[in-house]
Amino acid sequence: MYQILTKEMLTPTICRMSVRAPRLAAAAQPGQFLIVRADEKGERIPLTISDYDAGRGTVTIVTQKIGASSSDIIAFEPGEAFADVVGPLGLPSEFVNMSPDELSRQRYILIAGGVGTAPVYPQAKWLKAHGVPVDVIIGAKTKDLLIYVEEMRAVCDNLFICTDDGSAGFKGMGTNMLEKVVADGHSYTQAVIIGPMIMMKFTTLTCRKLGIPAVVSLNTLMVDGTGMCGACRVSVGGKTRFACVEGPEFDGYEVDFDEAMRRQGQYKAEEAEANEKHVCKIGRGK
Ligand SMILES: Cc1cc2nc3c(=O)[nH]c(=O)nc-3n(C[C@H](O)[C@H](O)[C@H](O)COP(=O)(O)OP(=O)(O)OC[C@H]3O[C@@H](n4cnc5c(N)ncnc54)[C@H](O)[C@@H]3O)c2cc1C
Ligand code: FES
Repeated sequence: MYQILTKEMLTPTICRMSVRAPRLAAAAQPGQFLIVRADEKGERIPLTISDYDAGRGTVTIVTQKIGASSSDIIAFEPGEAFADVVGPLGLPSEFVNMSPDELSRQRYILIAGGVGTAPVYPQAKWLKAHGVPVDVIIGAKTKDLLIYVEEMRAVCDNLFICTDDGSAGFKGMGTNMLEKVVADGHSYTQAVIIGPMIMMKFTTLTCRKLGIPAVVSLNTLMVDGTGMCGACRVSVGGKTRFACVEGPEFDGYEVDFDEAMRRQGQYKAEEAEANEKHVCKIGRGK
């Protein structure tokens, strides 16, 4: 069993938990994810590993309450335990395998949207620890929905905040912020974009316009997470790829975002119905 050690609501719908999982914590790398099954009858839910501490044997997950299964996960309290936590799954971020010489030539800009800020954190932390210049843009609809601001400030060189309504930082979206940062004289060899699919599509287009290579982390539907079911398939460079074993990170210039968004939304009606009928299986309410 995977015991929850701490729990904190970062916003009314986004929850951070640290979970005891020593073997997973010892093997985890930036860019990887895990799959949680809250109880024996639970759905398998992919979540990015937002931090890991091999010494303490813990991993951190940040879950946004969207539907039935994410609500079940958030309903757990410290001291209780998830039935299963499987991982680390997926490939680590590309920079993990770069030589010191390659790393010394990199200047990263990490662009995070909404709950995608949590997966960006271990990447910024790793790059900073390896002496690679790294700037971060965090975008959210309003100030109240910003997460990981102080944590991120501690692990990057420059932090740029933007909100759609201007309640914190620059008024505008991540795409506008990126254009401003580059116009102000910052230059980058690589962007990493993590957030909603539509945000990754348009931020990739902005990166292309600015001549910055872009990697995106695809939050496709996943079932087994081991390359067997095909639920996570995406078209990248005209070829079918499985996000769970060949990703979740891909070259954004090559991803067919429109197809990925269509596939992501294919069970919307069923999900809405499940959410409507949802009674928390673990007896803690919706
Ligand atoms: C590699 C990866 C990493 C992710 N990391 C995070 C994270 O760190 N934090 C976070 O809050 N969310 C993350 N997600 C998304 C998270 O898995 C979904 O929000 C969750 O599965 C929703 O389940 P639900 O029953 O609550 O919602 P539902 O009502 O069932 O579905 C709502 C929406 O969630 C998505 N979704 C539903 N089922 C799945 C599934 N089995 N696999 C993937 N997406 C699904 C779909 O877009 C769907 O339209 C990640 C997804 C992937 C693939
Ligand atoms: S989730 Fe089944 S093949 Fe990727």
